Amino acid sequence: MIKLSERIGRVEPSATLAITARAKAMKKEGIDVIGFGAGEPDFDAPDEVKEALKRAVDQGKTRYTPASGIPELRQGIAADYAHRGREVDPSEVIVTVGGKQALFNATQVLFDPGDAVIIPTPCWVSYPAQLHLAGAAPILVNTTAEGGHKLDPEVLTESLARTQARGLILCSPSNPTGGTYTAEELRAVGKVLAGFPDVVVLFDAIYDRIYYDGEIAPDLVAVCPELSDRVITFNGFSKTYSMTGLRLGYAIGPKEVIAAMGTLQSQSTSNATSIVQYAAVEALKIADEEIAGRREAFRRRRDLIVGLLREIDGVECEMPTGAFYAFPDFSSFLGAEGFADDLELAAMLLNDAHVAAVPGSAFGAPGHLRLSYALSEEEITEGIRRIAEALRR
Ligand SMILES: Cc1ncc(COP(=O)(O)O)c(C=O)c1O
Repeated sequence: MIKLSERIGRVEPSATLAITARAKAMKKEGIDVIGFGAGEPDFDAPDEVKEALKRAVDQGKTRYTPASGIPELRQGIAADYAHRGREVDPSEVIVTVGGKQALFNATQVLFDPGDAVIIPTPCWVSYPAQLHLAGAAPILVNTTAEGGHKLDPEVLTESLARTQARGLILCSPSNPTGGTYTAEELRAVGKVLAGFPDVVVLFDAIYDRIYYDGEIAPDLVAVCPELSDRVITFNGFSKTYSMTGLRLGYAIGPKEVIAAMGTLQSQSTSNATSIVQYAAVEALKIADEEIAGRREAFRRRRDLIVGLLREIDGVECEMPTGAFYAFPDFSSFLGAEGFADDLELAAMLLNDAHVAAVPGSAFGAPGHLRLSYALSEEEITEGIRRIAEALRR
């Protein structure tokens, strides 16, 4: 047996991708599976993006680009941030192979072995994994459903002081809960951070345009400009523009951090795919109304799925304010007389009810399931009907 590095032994394959793959395999076998597992919109990429991709190919834009991204895209992203009330210089932007790579680059250039980094849970599966790959120490801090799954300022203060953390990861709107920090809540976070000047914040805003209480979810630096020298913001084209497979994301942050991430990228993947970068320049020009149309479709689905879930006796479900996930609590079905845990519940739902959902344990929140509502209203209705029926059985 070839010996693998100790580093890779610290992480497991992404649970969400695994469930999606299993559901897809069952579908291929002809089984009618309803997939609440996927972390991607069911819409196609916009026509503007498809046309721009074809144009870029025809124009021969198929060579290496600058490792940190083509200047026009870095400029376009900087300009787009004006929408969020924030001035950004293109030198503060790096273009990456999806938001995931931006986060990976950041954790690699910011943290050393042993550095404590606070992650409020429930959290996206890749944060702890990426920190482990950097040798850093993820410190998971629980949030509550009553608090909208957002970090309470007192808990944050206590956690930062106790662990002497070097970093904090915030995701707003959140995967998996859909919870979104309001401007006031971000201001409270900023106030706490004023007492911890060495803490850097990784602010993941990948779902910021899939937000139901306004056009764009509040941006940490726009709300707390005094934090601009220690916040790295993450965003991308996967969710807003349904460009998941095209793999394009970015980070915005202090020049020196962005430059270090650029050095790492120049020695690892080099540039994100050239033609996708040109298409992204066009994506940024898409009118707000078109984006709003997609958001409204998600809003209808959110209202539908949460309403149906709340009709099931024993299920508790918060109303998410962003992203496209519901995160219901099924704990009343677990324990002595029910299922052993959420993993067993998810396995039963997939095998018996042909419904794919991701167990909450994957996000540090046992007892829950994450249901993506990036599905048609008919599929949502049928899927929840199947869950309710399986639970009755
Ligand atoms: C919270 C969060 N951040 C970042 C990403 C990265 O997405 P991508 O790498 O497709 O840009 C995802 C995707 O699932 C996500 O859910």
